[in-house]
Amino acid sequence: MTGNEIREKFLQYFERHGHTRVRSSPLLPADDPTLLFTNAGMNQFKDVFLGIEKRDYVRACSSQKCLRAGGKHNDLDEVGKTARHQTFFEMLGNFSFGDYFKEDAIKFAWDLLVNEYKLDPARMWFSVYEGDDEVGPDEDAEKFWEQVGAPRERILRFGRKDNFWQMGETGPCGPCSEIHYYMGADPNDAENCAANVNGPGDTITEIWNLVFMQFERNEVEPGRYTLTPLPAPSVDTGMGLERLTVVLQGVKSNYETDLLSNVVEFTARLSQGE
Ligand code: ALA
Repeated sequence: MTGNEIREKFLQYFERHGHTRVRSSPLLPADDPTLLFTNAGMNQFKDVFLGIEKRDYVRACSSQKCLRAGGKHNDLDEVGKTARHQTFFEMLGNFSFGDYFKEDAIKFAWDLLVNEYKLDPARMWFSVYEGDDEVGPDEDAEKFWEQVGAPRERILRFGRKDNFWQMGETGPCGPCSEIHYYMGADPNDAENCAANVNGPGDTITEIWNLVFMQFERNEVEPGRYTLTPLPAPSVDTGMGLERLTVVLQGVKSNYETDLLSNVVEFTARLSQGE
């Protein structure tokens, strides 16, 4: 499957499930002084999550151009060191504005990856927020992963640093749950796999982040922040198109996918004076 087909499959899947396809917004956010560059698919929906803006749909999907070269989500220092970081990339996302929440977000993600893209569930690992069960067993992401078929031992808990997502210092935020994919030789080496989820190496890559948007983070006085519940629990997800393409094309780095290899080869030829 080409990168273009992978992107299209994602968007068509969510359209079939009642989502409105929305164009990528520009890399320079129009009306948001808190952001220099667009850093996630949810940016253009910020006011919808906050309940300030209403749209004529409650489910959306997009492939958003993103730039992470500064600010809260800065990948600049990783570029060139890992096989999976870029500054500019495309983020595939599905969004619910007060419509479905954790259970359906997890069902969609599993169904798309396992039944449509045919990823091997034995290579999938899951992370959930360590405090997810504190809000009540009805809202524990781990329970929903188990219901769709994820083995409990592949669901790992992490703290705020890894599993609580916020757009910037202020704005919508919430606990999140990620899907990681193991690309090494032995998926049965569970101890080694588990130790590398959210680690520095490329053998296990985070491919998709499901954010359960629940709060608005505000600065009430310099350096002091509060979390206020959003008008309605919502969903914001982000899957790296280039990372998913690495997995599906069986290559070793984002730069070897058909999305980027032509650019790399063209630049190499230019640098050789051809
Ligand atoms: N907004 C979430 C992220 O960027 C999905 O990871």
